Amino acid sequence: MSSRRRFIKNTTLYSAFGGFIAAGEASYAAGSLSKHTNEPIVISTWNHGLPANAAAWEILNNGGKAIDAVEAGVKVPEADPNVRSVGYGGYPDRDGNVTLDACIMDENQQCGSVACLEHIKHPISVARLVMDKTPHVMLVGEGALEFAMNQGFKKENLLTPESLKGWRSIRKELETKKAIVNIENERQTIISEDNHDTIGMLALDVAGNLSGSCTTSGAANKLHGRVGDSPIIGAGLFVDNEIGAACATGLGEEVIKQAGSAMVVELMRNGRDPESACKEIVQRIIKTNGAKKDLQVGFLALRKDGAYGAFSILKGFNFAVFDAKNGNKLIDSPFS
Ligand code: GLY
Repeated sequence: MSSRRRFIKNTTLYSAFGGFIAAGEASYAAGSLSKHTNEPIVISTWNHGLPANAAAWEILNNGGKAIDAVEAGVKVPEADPNVRSVGYGGYPDRDGNVTLDACIMDENQQCGSVACLEHIKHPISVARLVMDKTPHVMLVGEGALEFAMNQGFKKENLLTPESLKGWRSIRKELETKKAIVNIENERQTIISEDNHDTIGMLALDVAGNLSGSCTTSGAANKLHGRVGDSPIIGAGLFVDNEIGAACATGLGEEVIKQAGSAMVVELMRNGRDPESACKEIVQRIIKTNGAKKDLQVGFLALRKDGAYGAFSILKGFNFAVFDAKNGNKLIDSPFS
């Protein structure tokens, strides 16, 4: 066996290269990443990834396409009012508006995106239609809403009583602290196990094709009109069907500054394993920000051969993985 080539059999395990290898016989060698396992797999951020993965798996396990799986998967948290950082019931901006960001990307590097979209429960499906039905990549605000309604989406109130209550309490706390002096203070809603953000999902189908999706209500208490990394191709999500896919979670501004997900994929192209690629971009963010407390960003990556990995700045980021061998599992991400 060449020293550049490794074969790892029949288990989900943490590889010597710092990445996880999917169930089944997986192989890789730098420069031959177009190999794949023929074993579908779906991975997604945070524990809301578990039910999302289950919906995606239904499609993958029946021989469906990764692009359909990643759309169906993230629609689960989008519709769940208890997931306070995605879709319906998501925390509003500082003025009390729920504004949603989402994007989707397929194996042909076709992509669609919506940003600052209000009143539509499934921004991911609007993003899919931007991809499928328009010559554009991104629609924002009123234009995105108009497009969605023309496509038959129903206008809904996405602000649940619980979200409104949460928003009022954040506002009260900030006002009490007289912290509304700059946006730096305003955006420090800590992203943790108890206060998730984005769902990013990456899938590999039985044909060996990769796709990804990403959807969020964005940073709680953001300025109205603020757009994070999640709808930005290359920042919150990137897919290169020859190499792999990556997505991000955490403070979007820092992800955008690094072109985070595109960089993770590019590092994998250059031979870095998924976890090490994620770690490298996390380290660049840390370097830029010094010892800033409570700054959380995490990346998740899936390579063409089914290997996956993650890395975050702070403890507490986790992700869900579903494959045939191991079922649906939640894994704690390594952190800096
Ligand atoms: N990562 C989600 C956001 O910053 O909006």
